[in-house]
Amino acid sequence: MESVYIGGKTPLYGEVTIQGSKNAALPIMAAALLIPGISVLKNCPRIADVEYMCRILTHIGCRVCWRGNNLEIDASCLNTGHLPEEYVTRMRSSVMLMGPLLGRLGEVELSHPGGCVIGDRPIDIHLKALRCLGACCEDDGIVLRARALGMCAATIALDFPSVGATENVIMAAVAAEGTTCLKNAAAEPEIKWLCAFLRSAGAGIRKEGDEALLIEGGRPLHSCCFEIPADRIVTGTYLCACLAAGGKVFLAGQPKGENDALQEIALRMGARLRETDKGLIVERTGKLLSPGLVETGSYPGFPTDLQSPLLAALSVARGESVLRETIFNGRFRVVEELNRMGAEIRVRGNAAYVPGGRSLKGTGVSAQELRGGAALVAAGLCAEGETLVANRHYIDRGYEDICRDMRSLGAECW
Ligand code: UD1
Repeated sequence: MESVYIGGKTPLYGEVTIQGSKNAALPIMAAALLIPGISVLKNCPRIADVEYMCRILTHIGCRVCWRGNNLEIDASCLNTGHLPEEYVTRMRSSVMLMGPLLGRLGEVELSHPGGCVIGDRPIDIHLKALRCLGACCEDDGIVLRARALGMCAATIALDFPSVGATENVIMAAVAAEGTTCLKNAAAEPEIKWLCAFLRSAGAGIRKEGDEALLIEGGRPLHSCCFEIPADRIVTGTYLCACLAAGGKVFLAGQPKGENDALQEIALRMGARLRETDKGLIVERTGKLLSPGLVETGSYPGFPTDLQSPLLAALSVARGESVLRETIFNGRFRVVEELNRMGAEIRVRGNAAYVPGGRSLKGTGVSAQELRGGAALVAAGLCAEGETLVANRHYIDRGYEDICRDMRSLGAECW
């Protein structure tokens, strides 16, 4: 179905197993292109963005096959660096293929990943860093072309710790001769997982203090098997849904230590949290309180990907909250939809002012992007009456089956 139906207000009780991480899986799939052999990715999430990436990899010559939730990528033979427009334009992450394809084939050409619904998403930092490694990059606003005959290591300081640019540089540097020193790199857990994957294939990557990453390029890489970690953003979304709807849930397999900023806010809002070896118990049976001011930031700050799901909970929390977005400049599209449900949020500049204490009413709303769509499902779970969230395909880009997961927590969700 192209919509998500939520039957009405239901506290959530039960257990859900957290799927593999989208933002870890996509760059690791790109990195598999550096390996002239087979990469087995266990616990890979079966989501639309991973499927698009599979199609791109198949188009350029990989053999890709699923065995349950394990994805096998054989990149022994690649036959082109020209990426198919149909999938590239659907998925911003395709830009991450630049680094590994430059490393493996010395050339890459792709349609511009284009504007995105959460604000401007330039790629200047990626291109500047790839040029430092010796690549020749052209961007006419429609097509991106890059070429490099033998990349060389360099010392690179990113202007901003962009997650995607950090990943692109790491992958390109693994193939460049010599030791690259990358400064001001992003510190998101997905960077650590990408490095762990590449190390398991034979790459030499290490941290130098908190300051820099040292990437020893030119080592031969070999086939490997790697487990994709659980998704911290899916974990956070379900935690926010439990804050909004109330109840007690067990988030099995949550990635420990990756959601500290959200957990600290959840505690301020009156939730009880307990981490076990197997997952996270979230209990919100008392009053939900405003946490005051919340600001998104680079890791370990509060993740921008969770600001929309948190907005759903702030709408029904007692007291006024302010949510300031510092990473993307257009990420409040969900506000209009939450307001149709009665949230009365006002946006001024990069901040959303949430009066709180509102009783949401179920109605027809529309997902405008991935995390905003998931936030509307969370809102539906604390709203009186039925909610229908249109444009489910946005949600399916990052959640294997949000309805299945909410049903396993007792919600009426189809
Ligand atoms: C990744 C995540 C996304 C998350 C984001 C921030 C994946 C697949 N996606 O996206 O879910 O919301 O990190 O945590 O992992 N910027 C530039 N020039 C560039 C690159 C980025 O100005 O060349 C700016 C962006 O416009 C944005 C900020 O830097 O304002 C952060 O972007 P970045 O960290 O690159 O995010 P992504 O890698 O695209």
